[in-house]
Amino acid sequence: MDLITGIKERRSIRKFQDRKVPRQLIEEIVNVAAYAPSWKNTQIARYIVVDDPEKIKALANEKCAYGFAGNVPVMSAAPALVLLTFVEGRSGFERDGSYSTLKEGGFQMFDAGVAAQTFCLAAHEKGLGTVIMGYFDEEEIKKIVDIPEGQQLAALIPIGYPDIDPAAPPRKDASKLLTFA
Ligand SMILES: Cc1cc2nc3c(=O)[nH]c(=O)nc-3n(C[C@H](O)[C@H](O)[C@H](O)COP(=O)(O)O)c2cc1C
Repeated sequence: MDLITGIKERRSIRKFQDRKVPRQLIEEIVNVAAYAPSWKNTQIARYIVVDDPEKIKALANEKCAYGFAGNVPVMSAAPALVLLTFVEGRSGFERDGSYSTLKEGGFQMFDAGVAAQTFCLAAHEKGLGTVIMGYFDEEEIKKIVDIPEGQQLAALIPIGYPDIDPAAPPRKDASKLLTFA
């Protein structure tokens, strides 16, 4: 699959086949996602994969989804949930802990976002569907899954073999998005 096709054809997948995703395949995807750019190559993104059905069941509730009910069935039907985290205090920071730029800690989420899209595109190329989820309650999730000290949750990404082939939601085109200054 060429890159532009992959970018255009990747969709958020919210229904998955009842089929496990081999850990080896997720490892291959993470090895691709590792090539995502990051602030001063700090590579702060981490991927905590939950593929134990009991833990997925425990996570798939409105509390963990920060009250966003629509995410609960998507989470519960996924064969694996990726907790995308980042190591705090490196991206956008100087060695003495001060901010490097006026964006302060913003580049941490920026790097996590770049990593998330790279992960999702690599998964798509391998025949897997993903959906990035921004609704979560980190403290509730921490009661079920251990997130190492010094890491912060950036997004939840259910992953699995797609059971749907949704059309792309409409996109703005360059006439709306682009200006030359
Ligand atoms: C930061 C972020 C948070 C998102 N959160 C959710 C979410 O909580 N639940 C969900 O179903 N989709 C979520 N999405 C997916 C978007 O709704 C989706 O990307 C958008 O509608 C475009 O569809 P597409 O990904 O199929 O192109 C999120 C996407 C991003 C980038």
